[in-house]
Amino acid sequence: MEKHFKEERTLVVIKPDGVQRSLVGEIIKRFEQVGLKLSAVKMMVPEPSFIEKHYTLDPNWMRLTGEKTIKGYLDKGLEPPSNDPIAISQKILDNLKKYVTSGPVIAMVWEGAHSVKIVRKLVGGTEPLTSDVGTIRGDYVLDSYQMGDVDGRSVRNLIHASGTIEEAEMEIKHWFLENELVDYRLIQEQILYDVNLDGILE
Ligand code: TYD
Repeated sequence: MEKHFKEERTLVVIKPDGVQRSLVGEIIKRFEQVGLKLSAVKMMVPEPSFIEKHYTLDPNWMRLTGEKTIKGYLDKGLEPPSNDPIAISQKILDNLKKYVTSGPVIAMVWEGAHSVKIVRKLVGGTEPLTSDVGTIRGDYVLDSYQMGDVDGRSVRNLIHASGTIEEAEMEIKHWFLENELVDYRLIQEQILYDVNLDGILE
């Protein structure tokens, strides 16, 4: 049977800067408020190899990220540090490994209708400089690619969130064992998803 929309799951990782900034509660609150359901959560200090695997679960990530970054430089009229997408991505990956393993992170699985897109909307664009006001990154952090590049580090953007349903499925398997995901019902799901809303009146 086809999965119902409400069963869509996405991975969210609050990165070390999010934990250090004491934003765990605020971030969780935003996902709760929109109506998503927390299916799994844990704190850990990831190993560099675990983070490398996370970012390369999609075998095209290195090439695509490199190409996107080169285009970003050219669009701004700047000279990219290299014209080789893989060399660019290797540096980005090395910086990400340093960043995401620098302290504890909170990994979570959020479930609900269109959870992948809803979470990305709430999280905001990747670069805090341009993420919309009202989003988590827009409201709580002020970093930029430019500042990261000058200092030779990753952009500090508080959160990782899966980009597509396929990515979410791979990432959830990477971060969680099957038995760490809890299947349960939230009472509010009746109001969010019930077709007839016929359980309210006495
Ligand atoms: P990316 O996959 O482009 O973003 P997203 O996870 O939002 O889909 O990039 C992965 C992470 O790498 C993201 O947190 C931002 C960081 N990054 C840098 O720090 N510098 C860079 O030049 C790029 C391209 C990404």
